[in-house]
Amino acid sequence: MSKIIQGKFKIVSNKKAGCDYYKMTISAREVVKAASPGQFVHLRCIEGNQPLLRRPFSFHRLNSDNFEILYEVVGQGTRLLTKRKKGEKIDVLGPLGNGFDVKGANIILVAGGMGVAPLFALAEHIVHSSQFIVHSKKKKLYVLIGARKKNHILCERDFRRLGTEVLVSTEDGSKGRRGLITDSLKSLLSTIDYRLSTIYACGPKEMLKELSNISARFNISAYGSLEENMACGVGACLGCAVETKRGYERICKEGPVFNLKDIKW
Ligand SMILES: Cc1cc2nc3c(=O)[nH]c(=O)nc-3n(C[C@H](O)[C@H](O)[C@H](O)COP(=O)(O)OP(=O)(O)OC[C@H]3O[C@@H](n4cnc5c(N)ncnc54)[C@H](O)[C@@H]3O)c2cc1C
Ligand code: FES
Repeated sequence: MSKIIQGKFKIVSNKKAGCDYYKMTISAREVVKAASPGQFVHLRCIEGNQPLLRRPFSFHRLNSDNFEILYEVVGQGTRLLTKRKKGEKIDVLGPLGNGFDVKGANIILVAGGMGVAPLFALAEHIVHSSQFIVHSKKKKLYVLIGARKKNHILCERDFRRLGTEVLVSTEDGSKGRRGLITDSLKSLLSTIDYRLSTIYACGPKEMLKELSNISARFNISAYGSLEENMACGVGACLGCAVETKRGYERICKEGPVFNLKDIKW
């Protein structure tokens, strides 16, 4: 298990990245050294106690000195986070959680909405660590990005720049294929040799549940990053428990990445 660090680290940038989306880069070499894709940081959004609780965010990019988070403004904490300025220090706790364990020949990343956040770090890791040859005929890295509508599709260009095969779908048909991302996945699986594929996913619970059904039907492995409101983030309060076939487990400690077949939906 990686070392958990708590400290104040400098904000390198905090910029708008779409309608309600921001990217924040934080200079924290020691956190980055201990981190892997799928893990997260628990951030104190602002100096002081209001809000008291930290907020969890996945690593979106891991560079040698910096990490980046991609976040959507949804409530008090994330609203306050948008006000943080370059040069200020932010209280970081992390890396936390288990992260993705990459295996399989074909890799299929399935991102629903903000689910692109951890999956981009995973795609970069796979491509740059040469565990995977992007243009190999034998192995492929597919990225499926789904959202309600066009302006909620994030990081498409970034994924394409990595050389991955990107498929986009929107529920209203404003970009890519019309419909649910899980339908795009079923179409993809019917056109490729999926037997040695592994799915890594992040997105809404209903999407992950459907992925669990699809993976059972096609007999392939599927791992998903789960979300729950978190208090401590380090396994102490049990506030983030999810029911699995082994009993209750903590998303912040045993997760956030779970084999989807283990979850009691
Ligand atoms: C492992 C993990 C990774 C995540 N990664 C990302 C990511 O990369 N990008 C992203 O955009 N989102 C991510 N999220 C979701 C993100 O953490 C939430 O969107 C964020 O916490 C919202 O905070 P908020 O204060 O803006 O929203 P709010 O809805 O105001 O607050 C979020 C939660 O904080 C708690 N809370 C708020 N106010 C109070 C109160 N007064 N008393 C007690 N509890 C309170 C509640 O549990 C509440 O539901 C992730 C979540 C998890 C679990
Ligand atoms: S948030 Fe406290 S145990 Fe997970």
